[in-house]
Amino acid sequence: MSERASWGSKLGLILATAGNAVGLGNILRFPSKAALYGGGAFMVPYFIALLLMGFPLMIIEWVIGRYAGKHGHGSMTGILGLFFNHASWARILGSIGVAIPLLICMYYIYIESWTMGFAFLSLFSQMPKPVITADAHEAVKPYVSFFKEYTKPSILAYFFLVLTIAINWFILQKGVRRGIEIIAKIGMPTIILLGIFLGLICISANNWKGFEGLKFIYNLNFSKITDPVVWVEASGQIFFTLSLGMGAIAVYASYVRPQEDVVKAGVYTVSINEFIEIIIGASIAIPAAFAMFSGIAIPELAKEGTFRLGFMTMPAVLMNLPFGWFVSFVWFMLLFLAALTSSLALIQPLIALFEDEMKWEHTKAVTVSMILVTIGAHLSAFIPNFIDELDFWAGCFMLLLFGLVEIVVFVWIFGINNFYKELTQNTTLRLPKIVVWITAIIPPIFIFLILYFWVIKDFNSIISMVDSSKLIARLFILLFLIFLAFIAVKSRSIVMRDIRYMR
Ligand code: PHE
Ligand code: NA
Repeated sequence: MSERASWGSKLGLILATAGNAVGLGNILRFPSKAALYGGGAFMVPYFIALLLMGFPLMIIEWVIGRYAGKHGHGSMTGILGLFFNHASWARILGSIGVAIPLLICMYYIYIESWTMGFAFLSLFSQMPKPVITADAHEAVKPYVSFFKEYTKPSILAYFFLVLTIAINWFILQKGVRRGIEIIAKIGMPTIILLGIFLGLICISANNWKGFEGLKFIYNLNFSKITDPVVWVEASGQIFFTLSLGMGAIAVYASYVRPQEDVVKAGVYTVSINEFIEIIIGASIAIPAAFAMFSGIAIPELAKEGTFRLGFMTMPAVLMNLPFGWFVSFVWFMLLFLAALTSSLALIQPLIALFEDEMKWEHTKAVTVSMILVTIGAHLSAFIPNFIDELDFWAGCFMLLLFGLVEIVVFVWIFGINNFYKELTQNTTLRLPKIVVWITAIIPPIFIFLILYFWVIKDFNSIISMVDSSKLIARLFILLFLIFLAFIAVKSRSIVMRDIRYMR
């Protein structure tokens, strides 16, 4: 049996996981959601969800990832099996946690390719010229048609999609240490520098009018505290941005040394991600829009969808600035680097599944994984609404559901005492046992309530609104789940043989 992969250094592992978490979620999704749900009113449930769900689940995934790595498993298929004597049903349940990141990746990587395409277009002055007007809709118009033309998809869009897939493929082929870790070591510092640079530009734009945008986000208030939709969206954002509820953190944690301080690593992951979300992410898109347009236009612009803010509104604002082409280039480069380090993390769970459970060679595991990603990315590119449908089911609903499964299995079924023993092993931060109890009780109730509201209130309308492209997307999700369940069952005998062999 070949050795499992591992991180090269402590710094490398921290930066790689930071790269995992920091992505489009921080710089694009966060400001859109905040704008849409009232800025400071959104931030109250956001912070509560961060504290009560994000933090505990992050620590759980790190602790369990390290534990599972010691036993040779990194994917949720193997990890869930570990807790139930490798029963087939547990492995099938776990494979949902491999399906989620892959399904997300299938559209995430397509958006990633737009960011690279638009970076090039900015650099070579191919973006539309800005119109000087106070009317937000007029100002954005040329960029709207430009974006629509590009994502038809144009030949250029297709070229950058292929290039983006090739880059991901190349890095993953290099492996955890020589691929993912090295890219994170270059990418993370660059992301922070570009982010601070852009943040300063956007806040100070138009005689510091951009500053109004920051005020809008940090004017904390309780005006939406009773709206369940805001709670759902705020919690969904916490899961998405911290890469939780899909085993994406656990798989990175499975490559640490057994004596690694995972509690500390978890605290670092949350801190770095939140710095790049609520400080840097908050200082770019919203302030930029405030600098150029009136505050009333902001929620309206955000309503047009998450991507509109990034690919239509932002260029309209940035191209107006001195050296606009360059600022626009920096914006899309920042998005690209953030997206790249995350898309690698979205694919690694499947690679780990093939390597740990099927005992495939690295090259074979990467090749098959990338072929699946390529198929999915094509569907995202050519089937209308495929992106949104996948984003709803995989990027929201299944995430919360699997987060619930994780806590029930890793804390309740594993046992409070067992979990506490794993938690306190090799850590300088000695958490009291009450923390485990709180973790075991509060987040599940929280998630349950959210799912309850969702299913009761919105499920029917979501289910009943069907068109053919949505149907294709759902069928695809189902087929993919069945495919992974099949692998989970088929590979069980390989795992059992290994266990007998080791005895
Ligand atoms: N956390 C990433 C973001 O904010 C998305 C992601 C989710 C990446 C899960 C990897 C795994 O964009
Ligand atoms: Na994030």
